[in-house]
Amino acid sequence: MTIREMLRGLPVLAHDMPSFDPVDVPGTPLDLFASWFAAAVTAGVDEPHAMTVSTVDADGAPDARVLILKDLDEEGWHFATTSTSAKGRQLAGNPRVALSFHWRELGRQVRIRGVAHPARPEVSRRDFLARPFGSRVATLAGRQSEPLTDRSALDAEFARVSERVAADPDLVAEGHTVYLARPETVEYWQADRQRRHVRLRYRRTADGWERELLWP
Ligand SMILES: Cc1cc2nc3c(=O)[nH]c(=O)nc-3n(C[C@H](O)[C@H](O)[C@H](O)COP(=O)(O)O)c2cc1C
Repeated sequence: MTIREMLRGLPVLAHDMPSFDPVDVPGTPLDLFASWFAAAVTAGVDEPHAMTVSTVDADGAPDARVLILKDLDEEGWHFATTSTSAKGRQLAGNPRVALSFHWRELGRQVRIRGVAHPARPEVSRRDFLARPFGSRVATLAGRQSEPLTDRSALDAEFARVSERVAADPDLVAEGHTVYLARPETVEYWQADRQRRHVRLRYRRTADGWERELLWP
């Protein structure tokens, strides 16, 4: 079977999915996200906190990768990474960002566009110290996004840093940074098996949020 045949044989949006009434919704996209996120957790969606974070580089070329959502509050969506990584450098040059979530089991997608800025240093520090041992070691040992010529260099660095972290549990990786993505638009997309999908977009205005439906 060719890849093309395999692809044509795969179902999409063919399972039972919840309905979504875009009229009866909260006034802010953050409140609707909190409710959709709780529904994703309840439905047993795998890694519902994994999202694609898109940035642009100095040439305006897009880049995207999966990150974990660390928090959500009135400031926006939080994620954490190393400020010297490719995405960290891209964000320093251009804070525009897009986040996207796909909760397959519910036929739901959320798309957030806005700008991301580093949180206060103590927020990043607290986030770092709350991470599991292995994650702290990985960040301290790593030079994220730089070329790695030899896997054994990584093993040696992990072993060396593991000893350091075990001896000093308060060690913090300097570059570890929490970013706050402040939304400008947030779109909620609910699939429908008959393809009459529902799209609801919130747009930030001078005095709050306005909502509009979009053609699917
Ligand atoms: C499920 C999943 C979760 C991830 N979570 C993070 C994360 O929270 N922070 C992070 O820096 N990288 C995370 N990564 C790795 C990133 O996708 C990416 O490879 C790395 O951050 C380097 O990206 P960059 O070169 O664009 O800076 C995750 C990858 C996956 C698949």
